[in-house]
Amino acid sequence: MKKEENIETNTNLVPLQRQGVVSYGSIGIFDSGYGGLTILEKIHTALPYYDYIYLGDNARTPYGTRSFDVVYKYTLECVTKLFEMGCELVILACNTASAKALRSIQQVDLPLMYPNRRVLGVIRPTVEAVGELTKTKHIGLLATSGTVQSNSYPLEIQKLYNDIFITSEACPMWVPLIENNEHNSQGADYFVQKNILNLLATDPKIDTIMLGCTHYPLLERKIKTFLPKDICLVSQGEIVAKSLTDYLIRHPEMDVRCSKNGTIRYLTTESVEKFSASASVFLSTDIVAEHIDLG
Ligand code: DGL
Repeated sequence: MKKEENIETNTNLVPLQRQGVVSYGSIGIFDSGYGGLTILEKIHTALPYYDYIYLGDNARTPYGTRSFDVVYKYTLECVTKLFEMGCELVILACNTASAKALRSIQQVDLPLMYPNRRVLGVIRPTVEAVGELTKTKHIGLLATSGTVQSNSYPLEIQKLYNDIFITSEACPMWVPLIENNEHNSQGADYFVQKNILNLLATDPKIDTIMLGCTHYPLLERKIKTFLPKDICLVSQGEIVAKSLTDYLIRHPEMDVRCSKNGTIRYLTTESVEKFSASASVFLSTDIVAEHIDLG
């Protein structure tokens, strides 16, 4: 039996509306690799009774240095797979995908494919939260090159807080260091310090820094060692978990369609052994992953 068939056979989440029954399914959590696990962990803590399917596109990570068209194409393929598996709601737990693909998927693809399902990103809730934290009104953003180039954070900030000034620093080495489990090495020290110094030299008034990449919480301790004590460092996990909790309260019609058996499945487009081993670094618990082929 092919692995993909195996996944379909194992799941009870085949879309039920095709059988004329009210559909219900898991919440899909998508990232280019392991980073979204930092979001999944906080979401699961806040909402433990729901079912989740995590999909990491590890075979094609990183997304952060890829073009708009490629990130959109890859993200749409992964979201479509999660929908085919019955997910009613998908969270893009990836800033790069949220920056480059979310709007097109929400406005163009979803209405045609699955008009009653939803895809949510991580940028809007992060911006909403961080705007309340800064006193100097000067915020720093650490993110992938793709997220920085997209200008999504400054645009979202402008919509909500027109008195906040944002300075961005692209950190293209950070995701590869983390994906290769090198984030505690001296090599990581060099790149982390370099990007922090660049950011603070560009705007010395910054009092709040956002980690605008779901991989970066793994570098949080190291980042803090290079930051002045009075700078507030914000990572996204709890913010996104709270935002999803609020969303489900505000949208009971979606909440009722999210199944609640407390399960989590982990899918990867890469090797199952590698994913299972590396995921434990992100989750501090052992998991068993399943392989999935897209397309
Ligand atoms: N976790 C993704 C993000 O939040 C990493 C992107 C990448 O694959 O480079 O942007």
